[in-house]
Amino acid sequence: MRKSAPWHISISLLAAVCLTLPAQAAPELPAQQIQAELETSWLELPNAQADRLERYTLWAARNPELDRETVVLQVNLDLDRTPYDNPRTVDDPSSLTVLVNKHNALPRDYVPELETLGADYGSGSLRPEAAQAFREMADAAREEGIALRSVSAYRSYSYQNALYSRYLTQYRQNTADTFSARPGHSEHQTGLALDINTASTRDHFENTPAFAWLKEHCAQYGFILRYDQGKQDITGYRFEPWHYRYVGVEIAQACMEQGLSYEEYLALGLTPQEEEAVPPAPEPETPPLFPFPIAQGKPIAL
Ligand code: DAL
Ligand code: ZN
Repeated sequence: MRKSAPWHISISLLAAVCLTLPAQAAPELPAQQIQAELETSWLELPNAQADRLERYTLWAARNPELDRETVVLQVNLDLDRTPYDNPRTVDDPSSLTVLVNKHNALPRDYVPELETLGADYGSGSLRPEAAQAFREMADAAREEGIALRSVSAYRSYSYQNALYSRYLTQYRQNTADTFSARPGHSEHQTGLALDINTASTRDHFENTPAFAWLKEHCAQYGFILRYDQGKQDITGYRFEPWHYRYVGVEIAQACMEQGLSYEEYLALGLTPQEEEAVPPAPEPETPPLFPFPIAQGKPIAL
């Protein structure tokens, strides 16, 4: 593959073309070519995505103080976009690793396969994988004297709509948006997220032994603390020590060990590598029905 012109040379070339030629005489093609080169040069950076080249270029122009790696990371985090402004609808709502946030919505009619958690585990239902993992986690916690119970698990689009609408009657939208997702944007609709023991800041769940236990052990069961302290600018939500999201053990351990929000984990391109496909062993050649060449019914020497 042809290597693109280095960044600073491309910028200088573009500037030279723009500055030295009168506007009407500027040959359009070279400028376009340089622009294209400038955009493809992002692909030399780790984690750059081919479908975001124009956004990287625009974000870099708006934030000249940022280095290029930071530009890529910030755009991958959607920090160049306004929350809820033209959100994408996720491609695969039933993926166990689906990202749902203020930029990524579930279809209004999406309802996952669900399983009731059971009376010993609190209220509600989750996807079978998440329900099983939660029950195992709660059983393990119980052995150490810690009670973990779901107070809110799967929520339908219409339930979330009612909940968010109710908050709008009590709070300004800017405030409601810091703790409640708009319908279609709640992880609770995935059936992979739940609130454990409380959903109120007044309870200071962050100061309880249950929270300390969860922080240490949730990843072993495939859960992450989804809206951690200090991540509001990235997740869009203030600290919710009670909200856990199932993403599977491998991803959960990477996020929790490195202190990464799920958005950061994805923006850094840390998704697990697919196992390299092992080519199937070649089929043994079909053995001849008779092990020797035959001539006129009799084996012949080769
Ligand atoms: N409280 C979280 C952000 C939700 O409404 O889904
Ligand atoms: Zn929640």
